[in-house]
Amino acid sequence: MRSLLPRPADDMAGVDVVAAYAPPAWTRRGPFVRCTMISSVDGAVTLHGRSGGLGGPADRLVFQVLRSWADVVVVGAGTARAEGYGPVRLDDELRAVRIARGQPPVPPIAVVTRSGTLDLGPAFFTEAEARPIVVTAAGAGESAVRCDRRVSALADVLVAGEGTVDLDAAFGRLAGDGHPSVLLEGGPGLNADVVRAGLLDELCLTVSPRLVAGGGARVVAGPELDPPLSMEVVGLLEADGFLFFRLAVSAER
Ligand SMILES: NC(=O)c1ccc[n+]([C@@H]2O[C@H](COP(=O)([O-])OP(=O)(O)OC[C@H]3O[C@@H](n4cnc5c(N)ncnc54)[C@H](OP(=O)(O)O)[C@@H]3O)[C@@H](O)[C@H]2O)c1
Repeated sequence: MRSLLPRPADDMAGVDVVAAYAPPAWTRRGPFVRCTMISSVDGAVTLHGRSGGLGGPADRLVFQVLRSWADVVVVGAGTARAEGYGPVRLDDELRAVRIARGQPPVPPIAVVTRSGTLDLGPAFFTEAEARPIVVTAAGAGESAVRCDRRVSALADVLVAGEGTVDLDAAFGRLAGDGHPSVLLEGGPGLNADVVRAGLLDELCLTVSPRLVAGGGARVVAGPELDPPLSMEVVGLLEADGFLFFRLAVSAER
């Protein structure tokens, strides 16, 4: 892997890749929301309904490094269902880096759901080293979540908002509970709500050297943003033709 921006460097070691994704220092004061997504060169975020076909070894490394910085991984229930989410697993090196920073060895996953119908495999709950969190809203979602015996026994439930999750409140509560650094893993539907709530700080976008056409979703769903959200490239890595953009949302949103 090599760095193109902010400083060119060849043959980056694992520690250099970790350092390239260090969150800005000010983030420790409140929620810092960093989204990670992979897209084809023509903007599709799925191939056959999932993201895996777009990736490669370097992408998987960056994904693990991003998880290693996070206090909590936040994901939409649609993605958790489509991708068959299991618990976070990190290798010994990344676990050691977290422990040295004072973080637990792996971050928990927080699934955001309106319906409260998670339909996730048992491993998500039973094999999780960090207790999962289910984020839902008061109303039907909360009722469904409370009726799910696996959730009530093996996960924490965070209720924020009525009918739909108030993401500002949810991220605030996560930060207050010791999870200020959020890695948002999509999908496009949840990303849209986060962006429209003005909560996005950073996007780590992998551009995969694949052209896929079709009708696959984009990084953010929904109608055009008017005005568009301005972003600055604060880092760019390359490996095997994959480009790894680190984009910070401009101060004037
Ligand atoms: N290329 C990539 O990097 C990447 C990354 C992630 C996902 N993906 C792909 O994207 C697709 C899934 O994306 P998606 O947009 O359909 O689903 P999604 O954004 O993962 O999840 C949408 C669901 O999240 C919940 N949700 C979102 N916003 C909410 C809010 N404000 N309050 C309460 N609940 C909220 C709802 O769950 P309920 O339905 O339970 O109410 C909603 O249906 C999959 O094909 C996946 O493979 C690609």
